[in-house]
Amino acid sequence: MNIRSATLEDLESVHQIETLSFDDGSYPPFVLRQFFDISHEYFLVAEDEGKILGYVLGNINKNTSQGWVLSLGVHPESRGKKLGKLLTEKLVELLENDLSTEICLTVHPDNTMAKKIYENLGFKAVKTFDNYYNDLEARLLMKKQLITLRFNA
Ligand SMILES: CC(C)(COP(=O)(O)OP(=O)(O)OC[C@H]1O[C@@H](n2cnc3c(N)ncnc32)[C@H](O)[C@@H]1OP(=O)(O)O)[C@@H](O)C(=O)NCCC(=O)NCCS
Repeated sequence: MNIRSATLEDLESVHQIETLSFDDGSYPPFVLRQFFDISHEYFLVAEDEGKILGYVLGNINKNTSQGWVLSLGVHPESRGKKLGKLLTEKLVELLENDLSTEICLTVHPDNTMAKKIYENLGFKAVKTFDNYYNDLEARLLMKKQLITLRFNA
């Protein structure tokens, strides 16, 4: 199993995993393509023998230096094998290396598996919003604080 940057050829498989993971709330193909265009350095896939088993997608808000974990999904047949954890870990590392001061994400409060991954990686619950995405569902905002040292020469 290998975690690597996503390529254009991966987007169809990523979309399948999105649909299996989020039903009506999944990103349509054109949104995945747009994310790929603007932030493919933070778009990772887990691949095994040519098959895409999972993906994670993030970005950095350059104004606030906040890194974001925007989406994470593992194919239902490949869950429970730490792929979600490995993908998130790798994205957090990339965001941290690019000088994010904190990393943020939102998760459904009942999503025990996802919350476990984030808590294990040092994310802390900050606030629950009743209607964060205007879909009448609650979302928990979680953040991981990073210690970033900047030296002036
Ligand atoms: C959430 C998701 C990405 C997890 O991926 P995964 O590869 O199966 O997760 P992992 O194997 O890394 O396991 C994550 C943790 O959940 C735990 N876990 C496994 N099954 C569990 C269960 N039924 N209930 C609670 N925790 C469980 C694991 O033990 C592990 O914790 P640990 O590292 O402390 O042992 C995957 O379930 C998924 O794609 N879900 C649908 C999309 C989604 O919810 N994405 C996240 C949106 S914020």
